[in-house]
Amino acid sequence: MAEKKIFKSSPRLMSCSNSTSSVGIRSNSIAGDEEEKILRKSPRSLSSISSNSRFKTPPSKKKKIEEDSVTNKPRKNTSATNACFLIGEPIPIEEAKKKWPWRYEEDKGRKQKGRQLMTSNDNDDDLVLNVKCHYAQAKVEKCIFDIGDCAYVKGEEGAQNYIGRILEFFKTVEGEDYFRVQWFFRAEDTVMKEQADNHDKKRLFYSDLMNDNMLDCIVSKVKVIQLAPNVGLRSNSKSVASCDFYYDMKYSVEYSSFYSIVNDNFTESSDLSSLSGVETIGLHGPKPDLIDLSSFNADKSEITLLDLYSGCGGMSTGLCLGAKLSPINLVTRWALDYDKSACESLRLNHPETQVRNESAKDFLDLLKEWEKLCKRHGDASGEKRRSLNLRAGKVGDSKVDSHDEIPSEEYEVSSIVDICYGDPTETGKRGLRLKVSWKGYGPNDDTWEPIEALGNCPDRIRDFVREGCKSQILPLPGSVDVICGGPPCQGITGCYGLPQFRLRVFLWGALPNEKLPQFPLPTHDVVVRYGGPSEFERNTVAYDEGQPRKLERAVVLLDAISDLPDVKNDEVREEMSYKTPPQTEFQKYIRSSEYDMKYSPSIAKKSRKAVLYDHRPSPLNEDNYARVSQIPQRKGANFRDLPGVVVGPDNAVQFDPNMERLLLPSGKPLVPDFVLTFSEGKSKRPYARLWWDETVTTVLTTPNCRNMVLIHPEQDRVLTIRECARLQGFPDYYRFTGSVLDRYVFTG
Ligand SMILES: C[S@@+](CC[C@H](N)C(=O)[O-])C[C@H]1O[C@@H](n2cnc3c(N)ncnc32)[C@H](O)[C@@H]1O
Repeated sequence: MAEKKIFKSSPRLMSCSNSTSSVGIRSNSIAGDEEEKILRKSPRSLSSISSNSRFKTPPSKKKKIEEDSVTNKPRKNTSATNACFLIGEPIPIEEAKKKWPWRYEEDKGRKQKGRQLMTSNDNDDDLVLNVKCHYAQAKVEKCIFDIGDCAYVKGEEGAQNYIGRILEFFKTVEGEDYFRVQWFFRAEDTVMKEQADNHDKKRLFYSDLMNDNMLDCIVSKVKVIQLAPNVGLRSNSKSVASCDFYYDMKYSVEYSSFYSIVNDNFTESSDLSSLSGVETIGLHGPKPDLIDLSSFNADKSEITLLDLYSGCGGMSTGLCLGAKLSPINLVTRWALDYDKSACESLRLNHPETQVRNESAKDFLDLLKEWEKLCKRHGDASGEKRRSLNLRAGKVGDSKVDSHDEIPSEEYEVSSIVDICYGDPTETGKRGLRLKVSWKGYGPNDDTWEPIEALGNCPDRIRDFVREGCKSQILPLPGSVDVICGGPPCQGITGCYGLPQFRLRVFLWGALPNEKLPQFPLPTHDVVVRYGGPSEFERNTVAYDEGQPRKLERAVVLLDAISDLPDVKNDEVREEMSYKTPPQTEFQKYIRSSEYDMKYSPSIAKKSRKAVLYDHRPSPLNEDNYARVSQIPQRKGANFRDLPGVVVGPDNAVQFDPNMERLLLPSGKPLVPDFVLTFSEGKSKRPYARLWWDETVTTVLTTPNCRNMVLIHPEQDRVLTIRECARLQGFPDYYRFTGSVLDRYVFTG
């Protein structure tokens, strides 16, 4: 049977139906209906965004009129007694037809087409079609508005007014006055929501969302200026003081993303009154400009990466390996995580990386202080200096001098060896601290000291800073090319050749002067295991419908782990040999040496026999092992296959009333109580076996077979650390340190 295994989800061009059907991603049954739900709806229906209304989008205010029209009581805004009305002579009809042809076309079908071309984003909002004429101005509460002016527009009751730019003024044949508006978003009305707190309250984001509203929705004029794109959260432009609001970027509601405004001429101090007319946008909203990767930082031999929240470095390692194929020499120069074992694992695999074991807050505060220090102590280049003993991570290489010559209460600073921001000695006060190596003492006696306490050894500080700048122990502004670690678009790992269904977020950004590269499109078919958060459904990276694609078949469990030797529940060996050659393309790749993966001359080509590390499971306790041993070795098997349970008509399990509960040698029940309450007894996950033709749902950080499907298809144990690591795409050469449970955390 020619099964169609094409990932044809097309979040870009789905129609606006409310269909809950699959968008073409194959679903595969393994562990119960609750995992099988495909939660996707037509993701490109903007109306569904508005109705979900997690995001605040300004509505059209014309419904009232329609209601009034129905009752034959049209509201007239033309009377001289009204506070708002269109003023001046109508724009000559020929001119108006030229500017806004879709408003005047006789044929409704053509009108519809015109509307779509102009306003791809407001498909919840029909265009007012019965237009008699356009005007260039309107008067609202004694204030004259021109096309291109920005205005406050009535918000919901009790909420802030909306802000928009006026695109048209027109009168309908029934005599109602309207304006068309293109909306700005406040930061908190975007996907950022409460996270927008740090943004300047004057900052707005322009959008392509526009619609028709009754003229009396205009509240007052507002001055909005456009500024050059700004990387920070606040603008330091002087023009900001003289305006009500400013904007420097656009916001795409459809893609929940922010982007630089292409081809708009920003003027530091001009408002928008000079801008007029309608910006023509693509049918499907703006698409990022693509960049030719070969020209990316071509002048640099190395692209530097800062891995924030690095864990043991899985994500950055993957990025660097991927970049190599381009070929781009992406190197993780700095990494940060507050988990000690994660940092140790990263150090083990990445000797080229400055790994910092601290919180992100401390790290970011440190970067600010480091910049100041580097500025203060200047550039050390060309100057002959003493070589510093930067010992971070190299304990034991320093000689211990005799203590005899040093007076007992006096200590002499030998050198500064490290720097941090925080409170490493738990004094209750955070600040900049320097790690001091004391003359006559070894590294174990190094202490953290506040920088203020080291006022009498400025030379040591200067030497440390200069050396640190030179060897880039910390990044300075401009020295990081890529930051990884943090959501505009989400991807599915399975779509990129991993046997795991896991929704991931790609942060896709570029500096204001750079073009945003194309996000990576799926390479593989995928087996859907569950849905993602509905508010980000639209952001799922996928092909446009009709866009040519060639997808490889979905990678399944067998592809990933079938070559690994059998191990028992109580396996404790940290190393072993493979026993069989790789059996699939995936296995061939994942077993490649570091040298082969990176083909870098700096990595020694090791000819020794390949060793398999970390192929040991977290041992099941006696009771769980006894339960797992009774789960049949077949697809879909789980605790429901144990004697003593029956499944009710509502798919909830019950204990079999006709059978006495079976007990384990420990006296505990074979089928534990929790399975009746876990997911109201409807889950099929407890003690469930994976099967060879399946993908795995998100591998978690704890190997718990009571709430996740993690039992090997044919061995009575949970997947090993190495098996989990493979499901995450870690190459086999990548080693982990820490306890067994720590190591599952890194691979989860
Ligand atoms: C999901 S893991 C990152 C995984 C990693 N990117 C990888 O690919 O292996 C999140 C990491 O963030 C670290 N973390 C969480 N909050 C942190 C904070 N405030 N400062 C530093 N590290 C933090 C955790 O220790 C954890 O290792």
